[in-house]
Amino acid sequence: MNNLRLLLLTLSLLSVLSACTTNAKTQYTQSAKTETPEAKAAQSHIQTPIINYKERFLPVVAQHGMVVGAEKLAAEVGMEILRVGGNAVDAAVATGFALAVTYPRAGNLAGGGFMLIHLAEENRQTLIDYREIAPAAATRDMFLDEEGNVDKMREYFSLTSSGVPGTVAGLLYAQEKYGILSRAQVLAPAIALAEDGLIVSFSHYYEINARADQLRKNAEAARLFFKPDGSAYEIGETWRQPDLAWTLSEISKRGADGFYSGAVAQRITDEMKSGGGLITAADLAGYSVVERQPVRGMYKGFEVISTPPPSSGGVHIVQILSILEGYDLQAMGQGSASYVHHLAESMKLAYADRSQYLGDPDYVNVPVAALTDKAYAARQRKRISSSAATPSVEIAPGKLVGDESTDTTHYSVADRFGNVVANTYTLNFSFGSHIAVPGTGMLLNNEMGDFASKPGTANAYGLVQGDANSIEPGKRPLSSMSPTIVLHEGKPWLATGSPGGSVIISTVLQTILNAMEFDMNIATAAAAPRMHHQWLPDELKLEEGFSPDTIKLLREMGHTLDVGNRTTGRTNSIMLENGWLYGATDTRRPGGWVAGY
Ligand code: DON
Repeated sequence: MNNLRLLLLTLSLLSVLSACTTNAKTQYTQSAKTETPEAKAAQSHIQTPIINYKERFLPVVAQHGMVVGAEKLAAEVGMEILRVGGNAVDAAVATGFALAVTYPRAGNLAGGGFMLIHLAEENRQTLIDYREIAPAAATRDMFLDEEGNVDKMREYFSLTSSGVPGTVAGLLYAQEKYGILSRAQVLAPAIALAEDGLIVSFSHYYEINARADQLRKNAEAARLFFKPDGSAYEIGETWRQPDLAWTLSEISKRGADGFYSGAVAQRITDEMKSGGGLITAADLAGYSVVERQPVRGMYKGFEVISTPPPSSGGVHIVQILSILEGYDLQAMGQGSASYVHHLAESMKLAYADRSQYLGDPDYVNVPVAALTDKAYAARQRKRISSSAATPSVEIAPGKLVGDESTDTTHYSVADRFGNVVANTYTLNFSFGSHIAVPGTGMLLNNEMGDFASKPGTANAYGLVQGDANSIEPGKRPLSSMSPTIVLHEGKPWLATGSPGGSVIISTVLQTILNAMEFDMNIATAAAAPRMHHQWLPDELKLEEGFSPDTIKLLREMGHTLDVGNRTTGRTNSIMLENGWLYGATDTRRPGGWVAGY
């Protein structure tokens, strides 16, 4: 039986199963499914222009449910879950497990992330923090060599790179508490994809080959991703993952215990013992998800809701928006030198604060309210010159550089009940530590590198971080992941998020600003050229697409520019307007998909 048929069979089975199980958990369904305000609005707006043919970039439009993600098969798994009666949380969880199979560079079981959920019936939002934690044996200086310098190989490509994984606990927690289908139902498509195999796509082929040298250094990763003769799978060939199917089946049968204790946990700890890794059975058994209040801020009538610490994302998105709110951005014009300058200056101030104040709130006091306070933003705004770049050294002491890197993945989901999910999760680097746990089909994260291994110096994303983010047992490393939902008139209007380490914050910021301030449709908002400044290094990065006049003016203002050398972020977004769902996957990377119906 080919893959697609098996998947379809699984999904039709799910549809039968769902009919039997939806009664058990009706809390997050709506009683009058076709009578939702959105559905009614959709009917009445059918005659109005839904898309505008004057625009160069058009979103994908759907009416009832949508999943936008970095990989087609996984997005379609989520959409099928919606079609057979699941809600947005079921679809998000199914997509998360499916991405672990179809998108191994960032989809994962042994990583971590943040899921932001809008619950329509209760009209509230909640944030599930399933970030990895430092093992009990972790120490502040564990990545320093004899000279006191950071040993980058140990920090990013060893068994000690891994934090205790949170993904399985996080996805299962979300499903159990807010989903309406069963665990077996949301895991079935991922198991089928792993067992039956998937047809190698261009993007999979491209990504594996891009990281082949590092993957081949680990015997188990080489066995997973390459053929027995060591060559890469070709486009169109079938790639099967029986070990991963086994791991997923353990989770399906036993829930979180199927991962955090028992045979899977044993394989993880055996691998740790084989090569100096720190994660023990007690670390795995002790992992717990934290449900937190998201960070919120108002921007000209829009409510922006995003990740709280231990991510820095929400705090700084809100902080930067509050600084920018004091300017007439429309008069400057989107993409003008003045616009880019004011964004860059606001970002410098926020990223400087990040270096000092942000860390795991269960270990350090993070002044979220003070940082997101409008009066603080007004004081910060006074430090910005409208005509000249302020050198970063004058904003705060610091130094250093670093290459931005690698991967994470974000997807957005909306269902016909009005629930919305924005989920970002990661192994940190593309393929994490590039080390696979024998017999499980899983790669390990290298999230320990997100701590300040040596406070005051830059990490792999060039981010300078302070003592607030130093390594401590049980602590969560500071993140930039920013799954974000924007409300308009109290209702979900936009869901978005991005990979990109330090550029996640600037990417999400510009995407929502393009939509809120410049009224761009979500595809245009994603396509517009992006800029990025993170205080240190003191360099303004511009994607290709800014005009030569803008570039010249920015140089004249004193900015050091890095033009066209890289792209910034990769959003997967949904806009909800007048009962319609508008989806856009970023064109900056191949393989993304909008699945809607
Ligand atoms: O949590 C963080 O901020 C990083 N570990 C995310 C890594 C990332 O986005 C890499 N992707 N491009």
